[in-house]
Amino acid sequence: MKNMDTIIVLDFGGQYCHLIARRVRELGVYSEILPFDIDINKLKKIAPKGIILSGGPSSVYKEGSPQLSDEFYIYISEEKIPVLGICYGLHLLIHQLGGTIEAHESKEYGKTKLNIIKSSILLDSLEKEEVVWMSHGDQVKLMPVGFEILAETETCPIAAYGNTEKHIYGVQFHPEVVHTAKGNQVLDNFISKIIQAKKEWKFEDWIERKIEEIKNKIGHENRVILGLSGGVDSSVAAVLLHKAIGDRLHNIFVNNGLLRKNEEIEVQKTFREKLSFKNFHYVDAEELFLEKLRGVEDPEEKRKIIGHTFIKVFEKKTIDLEKAYPNIKYLAHGTIYPDRVETSATSKSSAKIKSHHNLTLPDDMMLEIIEPLKDLYKDEVRKIGLQLGIPKELILRHPFPGPGLAVRIIGVIDKEKLDILREADRILISEIKNAGIYESLWQAFCVFLPLKTVGIMGDFRTYEYLCAIRIVESKDAMTANFAKLDWELLERIGARIINEVKGINRVVYDISNKPPSTIEFE
Ligand code: XMP
Repeated sequence: MKNMDTIIVLDFGGQYCHLIARRVRELGVYSEILPFDIDINKLKKIAPKGIILSGGPSSVYKEGSPQLSDEFYIYISEEKIPVLGICYGLHLLIHQLGGTIEAHESKEYGKTKLNIIKSSILLDSLEKEEVVWMSHGDQVKLMPVGFEILAETETCPIAAYGNTEKHIYGVQFHPEVVHTAKGNQVLDNFISKIIQAKKEWKFEDWIERKIEEIKNKIGHENRVILGLSGGVDSSVAAVLLHKAIGDRLHNIFVNNGLLRKNEEIEVQKTFREKLSFKNFHYVDAEELFLEKLRGVEDPEEKRKIIGHTFIKVFEKKTIDLEKAYPNIKYLAHGTIYPDRVETSATSKSSAKIKSHHNLTLPDDMMLEIIEPLKDLYKDEVRKIGLQLGIPKELILRHPFPGPGLAVRIIGVIDKEKLDILREADRILISEIKNAGIYESLWQAFCVFLPLKTVGIMGDFRTYEYLCAIRIVESKDAMTANFAKLDWELLERIGARIINEVKGINRVVYDISNKPPSTIEFE
């Protein structure tokens, strides 16, 4: 594997730390996040072309706050490695190089006007006045010799600095967030003009590197178990692992009876036939799940039962496999970066990570967790999936909740309702795909409402269930707007569902946004 120019982001616990590495990668240079107290020899081995210090919640002058070692400063000075400090990172450089940082009575949060007071490579191509995103209480009071002020805001006289001789720069604002209008320009100036890094990072390189890393970690004998849902994340993790260790990867696919129409057939076809997976273990647990869910109305109770039953089923299959293959030593998860934010375990790579899907096996199983996608965002995972040759339909599929159709049937679940919902959903998705809008939508699905209303079909009065259609546009599911679809398309979807799905005689369209509503109904 050829050596690529790499920029290291040192993590001081800031909430935007991962965004910095992502932006650098988007600009074409490979970037990795490491803990701020990384062993200096490890850092030397990586030989980064540049280093970015992230923000963080501490104050540099407080006891116990994260600091950089003397060896770090010796290393960057000897090797002339450019360093950019962001927020806490900016304070730390000043604090450790002989300047002063103090708390300021007027904290700056949100969008702020930045005035450029000296032209510099770092802020090249910016206007005299720019909008930036601030989030700090401390600020630089006194700078060490050799540092120049590059920009200020109304309440922060040193909002950016530079020391061209030492190649050290700092910005008080956050160039990595979209609210800083020219944030990418600032990062690009650092990367292209100060570091002069070669922009040669591609997803293929990441894949190659990851496969190598997995091979080294797992070795030539050990085997890995992976819970495959057929969703994007677990599928990409599976294919990546399969490329690294072949059929020493054992995938367990549990049919919980709450899947979409023919999903269990399609997932098996994709992995067994198209992707040539030999160890694809299909577990049909439909009856067990439906039995456990019988009569349960409360959404949280449903989720709990589904999560718990899944672990039991998965555990049983794992124990069976362990008997046949004693070398099973690892449990792989398709955890991605936003999952770790939800469970707040992002900062130190050693932190215990609670799985998004509650796929945590008992400790006595002694399986080591492996999470090859843990530093990536969803769109990066999708790009990697496409590179890996996973069919486009699978990669671009809308998100589907772990508890499946159980949270799309209000109240009590049974097989009859599930079949009705599956049929309605199949029609909706085929119409959305035919209209060519599937990929522009975040999610489109049907919801079964256990309410009967009166209708008329031919000469007969009907008294059947209600189906709601939920179609939303979103970037990250944190907020979502209902899609303003063409009336004729909606009419066609409604008519087909009513005509073709036995048990439904009325269809309604959900016009609620998130917030205040949620995307799913339960
Ligand atoms: P809400 O309904 O909270 O959904 O607006 C936001 C996103 O999360 C998905 N979702 C889930 N995913 N387990 C999952 O794996 C769950 O229990 C769950 N609940 C909601 C939902 O489909 C949407 O994309």
